[in-house]
Amino acid sequence: MTQRQLIDSFGRQIRYLRISVTDRCNFRCFYCMPEAHANFREREHILRFEEIEQIVRVFVGMGVDRVRLTGGEPLARRGLLRLVERIGALEGLDDLSMTTNAAMLAGSAQALRDAGMHRLNVSLDTLSADKFREITRGGDLDAVLDGLQAARKAGFDLVKINCVAMRTINDDEIDDLVRFCLDNDFTLRFIETMPMGDLGYERQTYYLPLTEVMAHLEQRFDLVPAVMPGGGPAEYRQLRGTRLRIGFITPISQHFCARCNRVRLTADGMLYLCLGQEHSVDLKALVRAGCSDAELEAVIREAIRRKPERHEFAEHPDKVIRIMSETGG
Ligand code: 5AD
Ligand code: SF4
Repeated sequence: MTQRQLIDSFGRQIRYLRISVTDRCNFRCFYCMPEAHANFREREHILRFEEIEQIVRVFVGMGVDRVRLTGGEPLARRGLLRLVERIGALEGLDDLSMTTNAAMLAGSAQALRDAGMHRLNVSLDTLSADKFREITRGGDLDAVLDGLQAARKAGFDLVKINCVAMRTINDDEIDDLVRFCLDNDFTLRFIETMPMGDLGYERQTYYLPLTEVMAHLEQRFDLVPAVMPGGGPAEYRQLRGTRLRIGFITPISQHFCARCNRVRLTADGMLYLCLGQEHSVDLKALVRAGCSDAELEAVIREAIRRKPERHEFAEHPDKVIRIMSETGG
């Protein structure tokens, strides 16, 4: 272990940086953004590409080898391909990925792949066009399905579908989603709804513990424990005799903070140390003041020492006041 690595005060090595490149989105999923949300950051407060690149370069110098672009919707950020090219070219970065709603992916999947994007996660909670429109408040399911096909054609082979499992919303579609992913060779991941920000309704209404989904699937299908290269917080099962892997991300019913390896950068340059806590440090002020890489490194190291041990979504669901699209999941 070299001294350049980033280790927090609980002995966890930070190797994974998630970057929200914009807090804007073409959708407004009801579990993510309040309906009338208009409190987006002004352009001048959003990190410029060269500022993001400096921050990533410094992180990579400290052993971070995975970067994921998120949003909001990353494809809503103008010129995103240029950023992908710049980050993709950094020596030492092994894995560049993106989480997208895929509605704007059809036209850009090939260019993204050519620019150096390795992997895509696509958010998709339902296969019903009407329900999709309701959940996303206006989104077009066909555009997403086209985006997924384009991703496949462009050669993205480990596409993961992120499905937020919600009682009374999509709990009747679990089997359909499994079949869809089996037929299309996508990995499927179920996610528990996390309490982030005030969305104007009682969250408990839709909270579905994934232990229930897992129990249901175990009755319907022959599932065996599986490992996913790259690890991460999901627990995986494989459908016996197939390539289909199903992941369960259970931040509420079983938190996995002890293995946390990540921090998050918001579009306006705040470094958040935990998705479920407010601890942060303003990196934009520093990079805009023209700090050196060494100065930035010192500030990041100091921040990592303050990384909280765990989130408290279950005990204090009202703690996080920012909404998900600000920190990017
Ligand atoms: N709880 C759980 N997942 C959420 N996402 C957005 N908001 C929430 C929430 N409150 C998911 C999106 C996307 C990922 C980035 O986070 O569906 O897949
Ligand atoms: Fe947009 Fe993703 Fe939030 Fe939906 S969950 S509103 S697609 S950022």
